[in-house]
Amino acid sequence: MHLNLLFFSIIVMSASASNLLDEEWNTWKEKYEKKYASSEDELFRRKAWEVNWDKVTKHNQLADQGLKKYTMAMNHFADMTSEEMNSRNCFLPTHYPSKHKPAPRYNVKHAKISKGVDWRDSNCISPVKNQGYCGSCWAFATVGVLEALHCLNGNELHNLSEQQLVDCDPIDHGCCGGFPINAIDYITQEGIMKSEDYEYEEKQFYCRYDSSNAIQLNVSKYYVLPNEENMASSVAKDGPITVGFGVNRDFMLYSKGIFDGECAPRPNHAIIIVGYGTLHCEEGKDDGEDYWIIKNSWGTEWGEDGFGKIMRNKDMCGISEFAASLELKP
Ligand SMILES: *[C@@H]1O[C@H](CO)[C@@H](O)[C@H](O)[C@H]1NC(C)=O
Ligand SMILES: *[C@@H]1O[C@H](CO)[C@@H](O)[C@H](O)[C@H]1NC(C)=O
Repeated sequence: MHLNLLFFSIIVMSASASNLLDEEWNTWKEKYEKKYASSEDELFRRKAWEVNWDKVTKHNQLADQGLKKYTMAMNHFADMTSEEMNSRNCFLPTHYPSKHKPAPRYNVKHAKISKGVDWRDSNCISPVKNQGYCGSCWAFATVGVLEALHCLNGNELHNLSEQQLVDCDPIDHGCCGGFPINAIDYITQEGIMKSEDYEYEEKQFYCRYDSSNAIQLNVSKYYVLPNEENMASSVAKDGPITVGFGVNRDFMLYSKGIFDGECAPRPNHAIIIVGYGTLHCEEGKDDGEDYWIIKNSWGTEWGEDGFGKIMRNKDMCGISEFAASLELKP
Protein backbone atom coordinates (compact mmCIF):
# COMPACT_ATOMS: atom_id res chain seq x y z
CA MET A 1 0.00 0.00 0.00
CA HIS A 2 2.75 2.36 0.99
CA LEU A 3 4.78 1.55 -2.12
CA ASN A 4 1.74 1.91 -4.38
CA LEU A 5 1.02 5.33 -3.01
CA LEU A 6 4.58 6.43 -3.63
CA PHE A 7 4.48 5.06 -7.15
CA PHE A 8 1.20 6.82 -7.81
CA SER A 9 2.42 10.17 -6.57
CA ILE A 10 5.55 9.93 -8.75
CA ILE A 11 3.38 9.38 -11.82
CA VAL A 12 1.14 12.31 -10.93
CA MET A 13 4.14 14.56 -10.33
CA SER A 14 5.94 13.74 -13.55
CA ALA A 15 2.71 13.96 -15.53
CA SER A 16 1.97 17.43 -14.21
CA ALA A 17 5.53 18.63 -14.88
CA SER A 18 5.28 17.39 -18.45
CA ASN A 19 1.81 18.95 -18.85
CA LEU A 20 3.17 22.26 -17.74
CA LEU A 21 5.90 22.02 -20.37
CA ASP A 22 3.28 20.92 -22.94
CA GLU A 23 1.62 24.26 -22.53
CA GLU A 24 4.91 26.14 -22.73
CA TRP A 25 5.89 24.14 -25.80
CA ASN A 26 2.60 24.89 -27.58
CA THR A 27 2.79 28.57 -26.73
CA TRP A 28 6.39 28.71 -27.96
CA LYS A 29 5.53 26.86 -31.21
CA GLU A 30 2.69 29.25 -31.87
CA LYS A 31 4.75 32.34 -31.11
CA TYR A 32 7.50 31.37 -33.55
CA GLU A 33 5.15 29.74 -36.07
CA LYS A 34 6.98 26.41 -35.92
CA LYS A 35 5.63 23.60 -38.08
CA TYR A 36 7.20 20.16 -38.12
CA ALA A 37 7.05 17.68 -40.97
CA SER A 38 6.24 14.63 -38.83
CA SER A 39 5.53 13.64 -35.25
CA GLU A 40 9.04 12.07 -35.06
CA ASP A 41 10.47 15.39 -36.12
CA GLU A 42 8.39 17.21 -33.54
CA LEU A 43 9.45 14.80 -30.80
CA PHE A 44 13.11 15.34 -31.74
CA ARG A 45 12.68 19.12 -31.64
CA ARG A 46 10.72 18.95 -28.40
CA LYS A 47 13.59 17.03 -26.76
CA ALA A 48 16.16 19.58 -27.92
CA TRP A 49 13.84 22.35 -26.74
CA GLU A 50 13.55 20.77 -23.27
CA VAL A 51 17.34 20.62 -22.93
CA ASN A 52 17.46 24.34 -23.78
CA TRP A 53 14.53 25.05 -21.46
CA ASP A 54 16.46 23.48 -18.61
CA LYS A 55 19.63 25.42 -19.45
CA VAL A 56 17.81 28.77 -19.84
CA THR A 57 15.74 28.33 -16.66
CA LYS A 58 18.79 27.50 -14.55
CA HIS A 59 20.84 30.30 -16.08
CA ASN A 60 18.11 32.87 -15.44
CA GLN A 61 17.70 31.75 -11.83
CA LEU A 62 21.40 32.54 -11.35
CA ALA A 63 20.95 35.84 -13.18
CA ASP A 64 18.07 36.72 -10.82
CA GLN A 65 20.43 36.17 -7.90
CA GLY A 66 22.95 38.53 -9.50
CA LEU A 67 25.33 35.67 -10.34
CA LYS A 68 25.18 36.11 -14.14
CA LYS A 69 25.67 39.29 -16.14
CA TYR A 70 23.16 38.40 -18.84
CA THR A 71 19.88 36.56 -19.21
CA MET A 72 18.87 33.97 -21.79
CA ALA A 73 15.58 33.38 -23.62
CA MET A 74 13.68 30.59 -25.34
CA ASN A 75 13.85 32.44 -28.66
CA HIS A 76 13.37 31.14 -32.22
CA PHE A 77 16.57 29.06 -31.98
CA ALA A 78 15.36 27.14 -28.91
CA ASP A 79 14.45 23.91 -30.76
CA MET A 80 17.99 23.43 -32.06
CA THR A 81 20.28 20.84 -30.47
CA SER A 82 23.51 22.11 -28.99
CA GLU A 83 25.39 20.20 -31.73
CA GLU A 84 23.46 22.16 -34.37
CA MET A 85 24.05 25.46 -32.61
CA ASN A 86 27.72 24.77 -32.05
CA SER A 87 28.32 23.73 -35.65
CA ARG A 88 26.71 26.81 -37.21
CA ASN A 89 29.37 28.68 -39.05
CA CYS A 90 29.17 31.42 -41.59
CA PHE A 91 32.88 31.98 -41.85
CA LEU A 92 34.95 29.54 -43.84
CA PRO A 93 37.40 28.09 -41.35
CA THR A 94 39.60 26.77 -44.13
CA HIS A 95 39.72 30.13 -45.92
CA TYR A 96 40.73 32.64 -43.29
CA PRO A 97 41.56 35.69 -45.39
CA SER A 98 44.75 36.72 -43.61
CA LYS A 99 46.38 33.59 -45.05
CA HIS A 100 46.04 34.61 -48.68
CA LYS A 101 45.18 38.28 -48.65
CA PRO A 102 46.58 40.26 -45.75
CA ALA A 103 44.67 43.50 -45.37
CA PRO A 104 46.50 46.65 -44.35
CA ARG A 105 46.66 47.17 -40.63
CA TYR A 106 45.73 50.70 -39.91
CA ASN A 107 46.41 51.88 -36.42
CA VAL A 108 43.83 54.38 -35.29
CA LYS A 109 44.63 54.56 -31.63
CA HIS A 110 43.71 57.89 -30.15
CA ALA A 111 44.82 59.06 -26.76
CA LYS A 112 41.44 60.42 -25.81
CA ILE A 113 38.16 58.93 -26.91
CA SER A 114 34.68 59.27 -25.53
CA LYS A 115 33.71 57.01 -22.59
CA GLY A 116 30.64 55.85 -24.44
CA VAL A 117 29.30 55.89 -28.00
CA ASP A 118 26.00 54.63 -29.42
CA TRP A 119 25.58 55.17 -33.15
CA ARG A 120 21.94 54.07 -32.92
CA ASP A 121 21.31 57.67 -31.79
CA SER A 122 22.57 58.92 -35.18
CA ASN A 123 19.61 57.63 -37.27
CA CYS A 124 22.24 56.04 -39.52
CA ILE A 125 21.68 52.45 -38.37
CA SER A 126 19.16 50.58 -40.54
CA PRO A 127 16.54 48.29 -38.92
CA VAL A 128 17.79 44.91 -37.66
CA LYS A 129 17.59 42.29 -40.42
CA ASN A 130 17.37 38.52 -40.46
CA GLN A 131 19.75 36.35 -42.48
CA GLY A 132 17.50 33.28 -41.95
CA TYR A 133 18.77 29.83 -42.91
CA CYS A 134 21.70 31.09 -44.96
CA GLY A 135 25.29 31.51 -43.78
CA SER A 136 25.37 35.11 -45.00
CA CYS A 137 26.28 36.89 -41.75
CA TRP A 138 29.38 38.23 -43.51
CA ALA A 139 27.18 40.00 -46.10
CA PHE A 140 24.89 41.50 -43.43
CA ALA A 141 27.80 42.72 -41.34
CA THR A 142 29.47 44.32 -44.37
CA VAL A 143 26.29 45.95 -45.65
CA GLY A 144 25.31 47.21 -42.18
CA VAL A 145 28.62 49.01 -41.78
CA LEU A 146 28.48 50.47 -45.31
CA GLU A 147 24.92 51.72 -44.80
CA ALA A 148 25.95 53.45 -41.60
CA LEU A 149 29.17 54.99 -42.90
CA HIS A 150 27.53 56.19 -46.12
CA CYS A 151 24.81 57.87 -44.05
CA LEU A 152 27.26 59.32 -41.51
CA ASN A 153 29.05 60.80 -44.53
CA GLY A 154 26.04 63.05 -45.09
CA ASN A 155 23.98 60.83 -47.40
CA GLU A 156 20.50 59.39 -47.01
CA LEU A 157 20.21 56.09 -45.11
CA HIS A 158 19.54 53.25 -47.59
CA ASN A 159 19.04 49.53 -47.08
CA LEU A 160 21.77 48.03 -49.24
CA SER A 161 21.67 44.61 -50.88
CA GLU A 162 23.05 41.62 -48.99
CA GLN A 163 21.72 39.41 -51.79
CA GLN A 164 24.08 41.03 -54.30
CA LEU A 165 27.00 39.94 -52.13
CA VAL A 166 25.56 36.44 -51.67
CA ASP A 167 25.13 36.02 -55.44
CA CYS A 168 28.00 38.02 -56.93
CA ASP A 169 30.99 38.35 -54.61
CA PRO A 170 33.48 35.97 -56.31
CA ILE A 171 35.77 35.45 -53.31
CA ASP A 172 33.11 34.59 -50.74
CA HIS A 173 30.74 31.62 -50.74
CA GLY A 174 27.16 32.86 -50.60
CA CYS A 175 25.15 31.01 -47.96
CA CYS A 176 28.17 28.86 -47.11
CA GLY A 177 30.18 31.65 -45.55
CA GLY A 178 32.57 34.46 -46.26
CA PHE A 179 34.45 37.35 -44.73
CA PRO A 180 33.54 41.04 -44.55
CA ILE A 181 37.05 42.06 -45.51
CA ASN A 182 36.64 40.24 -48.87
CA ALA A 183 33.17 41.69 -49.38
CA ILE A 184 34.43 45.23 -48.80
CA ASP A 185 37.03 44.56 -51.47
CA TYR A 186 34.35 43.43 -53.93
CA ILE A 187 32.07 46.43 -53.23
CA THR A 188 35.00 48.83 -53.57
CA GLN A 189 35.48 47.58 -57.12
CA GLU A 190 31.85 47.08 -58.17
CA GLY A 191 29.51 49.28 -56.13
CA ILE A 192 26.34 48.04 -54.49
CA MET A 193 22.61 48.16 -55.21
CA LYS A 194 19.83 49.03 -52.77
CA SER A 195 18.04 46.06 -51.23
CA GLU A 196 14.70 47.25 -52.68
CA ASP A 197 16.27 46.78 -56.14
CA TYR A 198 17.99 43.51 -55.27
CA GLU A 199 16.00 41.79 -52.53
CA TYR A 200 17.17 39.27 -49.99
CA GLU A 201 16.15 35.67 -50.75
CA GLU A 202 17.89 33.55 -48.12
CA LYS A 203 19.61 31.43 -50.77
CA GLN A 204 22.20 31.87 -53.46
CA PHE A 205 21.14 32.59 -57.06
CA TYR A 206 22.98 33.68 -60.17
CA CYS A 207 24.33 37.22 -60.10
CA ARG A 208 21.82 39.85 -61.22
CA TYR A 209 23.92 42.91 -60.46
CA ASP A 210 23.11 45.96 -62.57
CA SER A 211 25.84 48.57 -62.21
CA SER A 212 23.66 51.29 -63.76
CA ASN A 213 21.38 50.91 -60.73
CA ALA A 214 24.13 50.89 -58.10
CA ILE A 215 25.29 53.30 -55.45
CA GLN A 216 28.93 54.27 -55.85
CA LEU A 217 30.66 54.07 -52.52
CA ASN A 218 34.08 55.55 -52.90
CA VAL A 219 36.09 53.54 -50.42
CA SER A 220 39.37 55.33 -49.83
CA LYS A 221 40.84 52.80 -47.44
CA TYR A 222 39.90 49.64 -45.61
CA TYR A 223 41.71 48.14 -42.72
CA VAL A 224 41.78 45.56 -39.98
CA LEU A 225 41.94 46.73 -36.38
CA PRO A 226 44.48 44.81 -34.31
CA ASN A 227 43.02 45.07 -30.81
CA GLU A 228 40.09 46.33 -28.76
CA GLU A 229 41.73 49.67 -28.01
CA ASN A 230 42.02 50.39 -31.74
CA MET A 231 38.51 49.09 -32.29
CA ALA A 232 37.11 51.54 -29.74
CA SER A 233 39.04 54.41 -31.33
CA SER A 234 37.74 53.50 -34.75
CA VAL A 235 34.14 53.19 -33.52
CA ALA A 236 34.36 56.52 -31.67
CA LYS A 237 35.96 58.37 -34.56
CA ASP A 238 34.51 56.85 -37.73
CA GLY A 239 31.43 54.76 -36.86
CA PRO A 240 30.41 51.09 -36.82
CA ILE A 241 32.89 48.30 -37.63
CA THR A 242 32.54 44.59 -38.48
CA VAL A 243 33.90 41.90 -36.18
CA GLY A 244 34.03 38.12 -36.01
CA PHE A 245 32.65 36.29 -32.98
CA GLY A 246 32.84 32.68 -31.77
CA VAL A 247 29.17 31.79 -31.32
CA ASN A 248 27.69 28.76 -29.63
CA ARG A 249 24.46 28.04 -27.75
CA ASP A 250 24.94 30.63 -24.99
CA PHE A 251 25.02 33.48 -27.49
CA MET A 252 22.22 32.11 -29.65
CA LEU A 253 19.88 32.05 -26.65
CA TYR A 254 21.13 35.41 -25.30
CA SER A 255 18.43 37.81 -24.21
CA LYS A 256 19.85 40.88 -22.48
CA GLY A 257 22.66 42.15 -20.28
CA ILE A 258 26.40 41.93 -20.93
CA PHE A 259 27.30 38.67 -22.64
CA ASP A 260 30.26 36.82 -21.12
CA GLY A 261 29.13 33.23 -21.72
CA GLU A 262 30.74 30.30 -23.52
CA CYS A 263 32.27 30.71 -26.98
CA ALA A 264 33.11 28.59 -29.98
CA PRO A 265 36.87 27.92 -30.25
CA ARG A 266 37.26 30.39 -33.15
CA PRO A 267 35.18 33.21 -34.64
CA ASN A 268 32.40 31.71 -36.77
CA HIS A 269 29.94 34.60 -37.07
CA ALA A 270 30.12 38.22 -38.22
CA ILE A 271 28.39 41.06 -36.39
CA ILE A 272 28.56 44.85 -36.26
CA ILE A 273 29.82 46.96 -33.39
CA VAL A 274 27.65 50.09 -33.20
CA GLY A 275 28.96 51.48 -29.93
CA TYR A 276 30.52 50.83 -26.56
CA GLY A 277 30.22 51.91 -22.94
CA THR A 278 30.79 51.01 -19.33
CA LEU A 279 28.19 49.84 -16.84
CA HIS A 280 28.88 51.41 -13.45
CA CYS A 281 27.59 49.47 -10.50
CA GLU A 282 27.82 52.50 -8.28
CA GLU A 283 26.96 56.01 -9.34
CA GLY A 284 30.02 58.23 -9.75
CA LYS A 285 32.53 55.36 -9.66
CA ASP A 286 35.08 55.14 -12.44
CA ASP A 287 35.37 51.37 -12.70
CA GLY A 288 32.67 49.07 -14.04
CA GLU A 289 31.90 46.54 -16.74
CA ASP A 290 33.12 47.60 -20.18
CA TYR A 291 30.90 46.44 -23.03
CA TRP A 292 30.41 46.63 -26.78
CA ILE A 293 27.01 47.36 -28.29
CA ILE A 294 26.47 45.06 -31.25
CA LYS A 295 23.95 44.73 -34.07
CA ASN A 296 23.20 41.16 -35.12
CA SER A 297 21.43 39.74 -38.19
CA TRP A 298 19.13 37.25 -36.42
CA GLY A 299 15.96 39.35 -36.47
CA THR A 300 14.44 41.44 -33.69
CA GLU A 301 13.35 38.36 -31.69
CA TRP A 302 16.97 37.81 -30.71
CA GLY A 303 18.62 39.76 -27.87
CA GLU A 304 17.54 43.31 -27.12
CA ASP A 305 15.37 43.88 -30.22
CA GLY A 306 18.14 42.41 -32.37
CA PHE A 307 20.98 44.25 -30.62
CA GLY A 308 23.12 43.06 -27.73
CA LYS A 309 25.96 43.85 -25.35
CA ILE A 310 29.23 41.92 -25.15
CA MET A 311 31.96 42.15 -22.51
CA ARG A 312 34.72 44.50 -23.76
CA ASN A 313 38.50 44.43 -23.24
CA LYS A 314 38.59 40.66 -22.60
CA ASP A 315 38.83 39.64 -26.28
CA MET A 316 35.50 37.93 -25.72
CA CYS A 317 34.99 35.00 -28.17
CA GLY A 318 37.80 36.27 -30.42
CA ILE A 319 36.06 39.59 -31.10
CA SER A 320 39.32 41.34 -32.07
CA GLU A 321 40.51 38.66 -34.50
CA PHE A 322 38.61 39.89 -37.57
CA ALA A 323 37.78 43.48 -36.70
CA ALA A 324 37.63 45.59 -39.86
CA SER A 325 36.35 48.88 -41.12
CA LEU A 326 36.75 51.32 -43.95
CA GLU A 327 36.78 54.95 -44.83
CA LEU A 328 34.59 56.49 -47.50
CA LYS A 329 35.58 59.55 -49.52
CA PRO A 330 33.45 62.52 -48.52
C1 LIG B 1 14.75 49.42 -44.70
O1 LIG B 1 14.01 48.23 -44.65
C2 LIG B 1 13.08 48.17 -43.59
C3 LIG B 1 12.41 46.82 -43.64
O2 LIG B 1 13.36 45.81 -43.41
C4 LIG B 1 12.08 49.29 -43.69
O3 LIG B 1 11.21 49.26 -42.58
C5 LIG B 1 12.80 50.62 -43.72
O4 LIG B 1 11.89 51.67 -43.92
C6 LIG B 1 13.85 50.63 -44.81
N1 LIG B 1 14.62 51.85 -44.70
C7 LIG B 1 14.91 52.59 -45.75
C8 LIG B 1 15.72 53.82 -45.47
O5 LIG B 1 14.55 52.33 -46.88
C1 LIG C 1 32.95 58.80 -56.33
O1 LIG C 1 34.00 59.26 -57.10
C2 LIG C 1 33.63 59.64 -58.41
C3 LIG C 1 34.88 59.99 -59.19
O2 LIG C 1 35.93 60.40 -58.36
C4 LIG C 1 32.63 60.76 -58.36
O3 LIG C 1 32.23 61.13 -59.66
C5 LIG C 1 31.41 60.34 -57.55
O4 LIG C 1 30.52 61.40 -57.38
C6 LIG C 1 31.84 59.83 -56.19
N1 LIG C 1 30.68 59.25 -55.52
C7 LIG C 1 30.43 59.48 -54.25
C8 LIG C 1 29.20 58.78 -53.73
O5 LIG C 1 31.09 60.17 -53.53
